[in-house]
Amino acid sequence: MTTASSAPLLKVRNLSVYFRLEEGVLTAVDRISFDVFGGQILGLVGESGSGKSMSMLALARLIPQDIGIIAADELSFDGEPVLSMNTRQLKALRGPGIGFIFQNPLSSLNPLLTIGSQISESLRSHMGLSRKAAATRTIDLLARVGIPDPKQRVDDYPHQFSGGMRQRAMIAMAIACEPKLILADEPTTALDVTIQAQILELLVSIVEETGAGVIIVTHDLGVAANICDHVNVMYAGQIVESAPVDDLFYRPSMPYTWGLLDSIPRIDHAATDVLPFIGGRPPDPMDFGSACRFAPRCSYARPACIARMPNLSDRDGVAHLARCLGTESSGWLEVQS
Ligand SMILES: Nc1ncnc2c1ncn2[C@@H]1O[C@H](COP(=O)(O)OP(=O)(O)OP(=O)(O)O)[C@@H](O)[C@H]1O
Ligand SMILES: [Mg+2]
Repeated sequence: MTTASSAPLLKVRNLSVYFRLEEGVLTAVDRISFDVFGGQILGLVGESGSGKSMSMLALARLIPQDIGIIAADELSFDGEPVLSMNTRQLKALRGPGIGFIFQNPLSSLNPLLTIGSQISESLRSHMGLSRKAAATRTIDLLARVGIPDPKQRVDDYPHQFSGGMRQRAMIAMAIACEPKLILADEPTTALDVTIQAQILELLVSIVEETGAGVIIVTHDLGVAANICDHVNVMYAGQIVESAPVDDLFYRPSMPYTWGLLDSIPRIDHAATDVLPFIGGRPPDPMDFGSACRFAPRCSYARPACIARMPNLSDRDGVAHLARCLGTESSGWLEVQS
């Protein structure tokens, strides 16, 4: 883990993502707020469909305007407002500003182009490198992310790489332009445990070397515990708990997080890429209503939880927020440490 610097690299205030569908408006992300600092690794955890990927895509303005609507009171990167950036500014944002490691490397690498040409193309277009300089740097990058024999492998096509190597290639592409912020959406899903550990180690070493900030989406709370400095838990488009990593694991402060932690797979259980089971289903994103969104699945819910939505409010720790009436100071739930 690293020490974060003082001015936020990324400032997010009430960021939302909506999709206008024939049946109505779907809220994928609902007014989330947080900061990311250089050298910090922020984890984003939550069940499938909770809005993790859409939040990440929105941060880099990667949701096309004809598909989804991104709204925010503030979304700034290095002090610059992202939502009002023009095409040229967005290009600078995405190369040297933000590097993106997508959820599925196979669908994000072009199968018709060699791994090397995809990385050099990005270097040439974002950093203005000559063909020769880009080719040299591409080989260096492949070596940096642990691709064996990079001089030969640079001319391979994605299908010639194993899953772990493709993920490494994605990371090489994401760090090619030395971004200040790396957004990694499930970078180790579908990889075996040993490769997963190597990829995470690689990510941590990149942060230590470059001072980049990272947001990592993961289904795996063990991953979050190991490498993150701070964790945001998402549920039904909202942040429901946000805390420094130790506070989250030692003093989780709302029942959804309790459920996630209770159901961390034990060592003798097969590893899965989905979050462990919490009974019931998340609410309909077309109609979240005005109650606590977790109340229908919460065994501690009281009528108050249906009457109104709890705010994301301070708990005892530094920068520890939770969205639960039961664990507010006037609530009925004791947070065990
Ligand atoms: N193009 C789209 N059109 C309409 N709704 C969408 C679209 N993409 C995503 N959604 C919806 O947005 C919500 C959030 O999806 P998102 O992909 O961010 O979830 P996630 O937390 O990343 O899940 P997972 O863990 O499965 O990757 C879901 O309700 C999803 O169905
Ligand atoms: Mg996702």
